[in-house]
Amino acid sequence: MKNLNVEIDFPTEIVTEGQVRVLVPKLSAFVEKPSEYAPSKAPVFYNPVMELNRDIAVLALQAYQQTVKREITVCEPLAGCGVRGIRFALEVEGVKKVLINDINRKAYKLAKYNVELNRLGERVSVKNMDANLLLARHSAPYKRFDAIDIDPFGSPTPFLDSAIRATRDGGLLALTATDMAPLCGVHPKACIRKYGGKPLRTEYCHEIALRLVLGCTAVTAAKHEIGITPLFSHSTDHYVRVYILLKHGAHEANESLRNMGYILHCFNCFHRETVHEDTLLGHASECSNCGSKIDYAGPLWLGKIADEKFCTSMEEEAQKRQFKTKKRAQKILALVKTECEAPPTYYVLDKMCSRMRVPVPSVKVVLEALKKGGFIAMPTHFNLAGIKTTASAEKITSIIKTILNPNKDDKVGCKFNNF
Ligand SMILES: C[S@@+](CC[C@H](N)C(=O)[O-])C[C@H]1O[C@@H](n2cnc3c(N)ncnc32)[C@H](O)[C@@H]1O
Ligand SMILES: [Zn+2]
Repeated sequence: MKNLNVEIDFPTEIVTEGQVRVLVPKLSAFVEKPSEYAPSKAPVFYNPVMELNRDIAVLALQAYQQTVKREITVCEPLAGCGVRGIRFALEVEGVKKVLINDINRKAYKLAKYNVELNRLGERVSVKNMDANLLLARHSAPYKRFDAIDIDPFGSPTPFLDSAIRATRDGGLLALTATDMAPLCGVHPKACIRKYGGKPLRTEYCHEIALRLVLGCTAVTAAKHEIGITPLFSHSTDHYVRVYILLKHGAHEANESLRNMGYILHCFNCFHRETVHEDTLLGHASECSNCGSKIDYAGPLWLGKIADEKFCTSMEEEAQKRQFKTKKRAQKILALVKTECEAPPTYYVLDKMCSRMRVPVPSVKVVLEALKKGGFIAMPTHFNLAGIKTTASAEKITSIIKTILNPNKDDKVGCKFNNF
């Protein structure tokens, strides 16, 4: 294809996403078998499934812009065909300039084409270099960006240092991680190498994954005397995504490191505990509920994964706009907002009931019973069969039994091995 002064020499098609029209690789032309993952077979990366990720990114950037109340500059150093950065320029009010970049020459050309197609040449620049090199060039105080969006294929950690350095004080850093096999504990060594924390294959491994990404960001930022505050995070489909406010200062860095710690998990009775870093030494290695050997995940982020005010602002933005994934995005926003004050980890009813060899009661009924019993309890966006609560595994077990068998005595002390 040759027009708009850019040559594209592979099959393409025009798609509409949000308010933009972009030329993308025609994915069907690059797969031989239906089982192949089309986005990585094409000469330029484009994944239509990530539209929801990009929709939420637009809402988060707008919510951020509203908190700073001035024009902002944005960088997307791993841009593929450029759809995300172009959407930021067109759909987010108050975006002055966007710099998009990709190391792949074909991606660069396609992104340039798309910038022209959307008549954004004045506000969107396109570069073709290594992301770390580009970010390093923007690490001096007056060259930094207000917001940086790192959306790689796999782990964001190779770009973390340079992205943190190129984000201004009070700026927003957004990260995607798609390497769920390491983060969810299938390849624990790879996770320890990349994120500096041990994962664990529990039923809430997606939350552990998200907290490992936040923890790694907190530790990396602390090296530069920068503190972090997660404004919004979600785990959706095959990825986790975090939006983090960066604040410069040794005090801020120390404060955010106070959120680092471990999740202790008992595979026998579902009991979990959180321990902050300084109290791990000397902690018992047996489960305090059933005495089994306890396993752990971490170090990871134990603090809040989202900020309620920021979630409300994103919800208001979503309400105003029309977009294809609106219903699903709004559901995620509402659930994450209720999780702002929730404790780490969640219980998955199917898993507990299958171990107890009993039918699964509805999440709603268990939530109500927990609240009636004086516990904080809410659903979670991580898993629709999941429950976040201040109640212990033992208490939840006894509540499930009472729900299923209301006339029998509630044996609170009953342990899993005794079923
Ligand atoms: C997942 S894709 C980006 C998708 C895009 N952010 C979106 O929302 O559609 C990751 C991109 O990173 C690019 N990339 C990989 N390593 C890079 C590096 N070191 N510097 C710059 N770009 C790189 C790849 O060429 C690929 O296009
Ligand atoms: Zn136990």
